[in-house]
Amino acid sequence: MADPGAAITCPFDFSEALDFDPSLAELMARDRPTRIRLPYGDADAWLVTGFDDVRQVTTDHRFSRAAIMARDYPRLTPEPIVSPESINVIDPPRSSRLRRLASHAFTPRRVERMRTAIAELTDSLLDEMAAAGPPADLARHLSDRLPQQTICELLGIARSDWPRMRRYAHQMLATGPDEREAAATAKAELRAYFGELVDERRRAPGNDLISALAAAKDGEDALDDQEVAVMALTLMLSGHDTATCEISNITYVLLSRPELMERLRSRPDTLTAVLNELLRFIPFRKGVGIPRVALEDVQMGGVRIRAGDFIHVSYLTANRDPQRFTDPGTVDPDRTPLPHMTFGWGGHRCIAAPLAMAELEVAVGRLVNRFPGLRLAVPAQELRWDTATIRRFPIELPVAW
Ligand code: HEM
Repeated sequence: MADPGAAITCPFDFSEALDFDPSLAELMARDRPTRIRLPYGDADAWLVTGFDDVRQVTTDHRFSRAAIMARDYPRLTPEPIVSPESINVIDPPRSSRLRRLASHAFTPRRVERMRTAIAELTDSLLDEMAAAGPPADLARHLSDRLPQQTICELLGIARSDWPRMRRYAHQMLATGPDEREAAATAKAELRAYFGELVDERRRAPGNDLISALAAAKDGEDALDDQEVAVMALTLMLSGHDTATCEISNITYVLLSRPELMERLRSRPDTLTAVLNELLRFIPFRKGVGIPRVALEDVQMGGVRIRAGDFIHVSYLTANRDPQRFTDPGTVDPDRTPLPHMTFGWGGHRCIAAPLAMAELEVAVGRLVNRFPGLRLAVPAQELRWDTATIRRFPIELPVAW
């Protein structure tokens, strides 16, 4: 019989279309924190799955992100994707200060202005897709390019450098054991690139996000050069792949559920509600992200988490918690709108969620509008799903119209 105290090995490599990972479902059914072992890192971790428990871990200062950096923390990628100076691994009050200053770059007014830039990029990508098909690969024409172009455009990166940015991001998010060196080199090169860019923008500010971060003030407080460079780098990395896989995944679900697509066409005012429900429903990543370390003993869900223990939360299972969402496995845009956890929760919730929503609204809204007969160009069973990164998305999404 298995030792009840032993950690459960969790490769979290499940990639069957967008079906919910059965190993996560099983861990969720235990309804209490469970010990897990991930492919990389020298320690086991607790996994917390329920909405309320995830909310507690992500808002309780007894769980520290900063403390993971002193150790080889449990994770899915060979190379840690964060540096000690990036916001994802800084605790309050330092992180709150950085987030307050960075939020100046994402005020509603700035995001509205960004919407115009996103719409222009989307239209030109959809022009290219229309010229190439039907059929055409929506992943290649839209999902792979819009988020990357958007963040590059917003950061004011020269167009000639866009392909390089994409390569770096891809190298850093790969999960293969042979990719460690490439990931470390990519991280160092990107860091140097942004160092130079910040210098430039201090000398000659523009209308871009880096200049906005450099100018952000909270009373007398401001970001120094290094902080701006690291924030820009973090935005670049975080801004790429999440939105890329969500554009493909959301489109895939819409194309697989004609009633949803029909609803969007007949009631475009429900776009945001439909997107939020799909964000909640879609398991857009594998397993878990960045853990925390307990700074003292904490009693939670019937177990004692000891000081020094690692703890992972699953936003995916929290989004399917039946105590929070009625019939959570069903897509129902008319359900009572309750915040989901796809953008995270608490002290490290996605800093750019308003920008991400604007991207999705523009991309999906314009796609549905422009191609009324949009449909999958191959049977859904023929789609190939990513197995090389921590995300879940179709590698190609051939569509016709
Ligand atoms: C649909 C698209 C997106 C999704 C689903 C998403 C989701 C998330 C999630 C789950 C987190 C982590 C929460 C945690 O660590 O506990 C996060 C953090 C973050 N995201 Fe996003 N994100 C998206 C788009 C973006 C974009 C476009 C950007 C930048 C332009 C961005 C920038 C960030 C940053 C900087 C953080 C770190 C915040 C912190 O640790 O304080 N995200 N996001």
